Amino acid sequence: MALKSVITGGAGFIGSNLTDHLVRIGHKVVVLDNFVSGKKSNLSHHKKKDVKIIKIDISKSKNLYKYFKGADYVFHLAALAEIIPSIKNPKKYFNNNVIGTLKVVEAANKVKIKKLIYAASSSCYGTPKKLPTSEKDEINLKNPYAVTKFIGEEIIMNYAEMFKMPNISFRFFNVYGPRLNASGQYGAVISNFLFQKKNNKPLTIVGDGKQTRDFIHVDDLANAFLKILKSKYNNKIYNLGSGKKTSINYIASIFNGKKKFISIRPGEPKDSLANISKLKKDINWKPKISIEKGIKNLLRN
Ligand SMILES: NC(=O)c1ccc[n+]([C@@H]2O[C@H](COP(=O)([O-])OP(=O)(O)OC[C@H]3O[C@@H](n4cnc5c(N)ncnc54)[C@H](O)[C@@H]3O)[C@@H](O)[C@H]2O)c1
Repeated sequence: MALKSVITGGAGFIGSNLTDHLVRIGHKVVVLDNFVSGKKSNLSHHKKKDVKIIKIDISKSKNLYKYFKGADYVFHLAALAEIIPSIKNPKKYFNNNVIGTLKVVEAANKVKIKKLIYAASSSCYGTPKKLPTSEKDEINLKNPYAVTKFIGEEIIMNYAEMFKMPNISFRFFNVYGPRLNASGQYGAVISNFLFQKKNNKPLTIVGDGKQTRDFIHVDDLANAFLKILKSKYNNKIYNLGSGKKTSINYIASIFNGKKKFISIRPGEPKDSLANISKLKKDINWKPKISIEKGIKNLLRN
């Protein structure tokens, strides 16, 4: 019988890409999404027999459990995922991301799942003291978004400990790839540049552009998900990045557009870089898509 995977936030950028990978290897996927930022069109290429879409707010539902019945794997990606709006409305972020995670983990715990994977965030390292940053390095929560994602991880790990749930937390660094939300408002740098390039606007570079980030292509990220499913590892936290640092000026040079420098935003680190040796060692995975190739593919579509 086909394996069943439940993906919360499956209509979003990362969730819809993960859905593609799971369908490709023969899983039946149930997507739970309230479409606050996700889109039906992100999944419209799938057949109904492969992907069932349920419109639901995971933080408000009283009856989540019924969607998890018979599930082998749960991927919990649903969250409000932008930093600046979280500073404006922390309570909304807390209710959505923390209560949402508690409801998902409670529902999943009633079913005998093989593994639950949580989308945590490298924002837990704040302005890191050590680069590359490893999972053991200091937690430094700089904004409400980071707080909610970190509490979510603590809940996931606590359930793993208390109820022996087979849970994994992946701390994503800067993920990019097809269907990246091109809002152009609060989006991450690559989504901003894509939006600006498509609309013939200058690329807005925060500060001097010398700051660096760790960009990971969503296909590399999804491959790590697929490998961890088959592994013996549970109750673990892993960084999920490329392990390479890239400056914003370099990203702008790949986009090859006019530049406009804007003032720095408070609370953002100068540099961010994942130490990914733990994940590489445990599941024999490594990222394969270079930033140059990843961005050129995005610009082609
Ligand atoms: N994109 C990144 O670089 C990055 C980095 C670190 C962590 N993450 C985490 O990865 C996950 C996915 O991020 P993304 O970039 O794909 O963002 P996204 O906004 O595209 O996806 C989030 C999805 O969750 C859905 N959602 C939000 N609240 C919901 C609720 N209460 N009930 C049901 N559905 C809800 C949205 O509609 C959307 O489809 C998030 O948890 C985010 O915090 C992303």
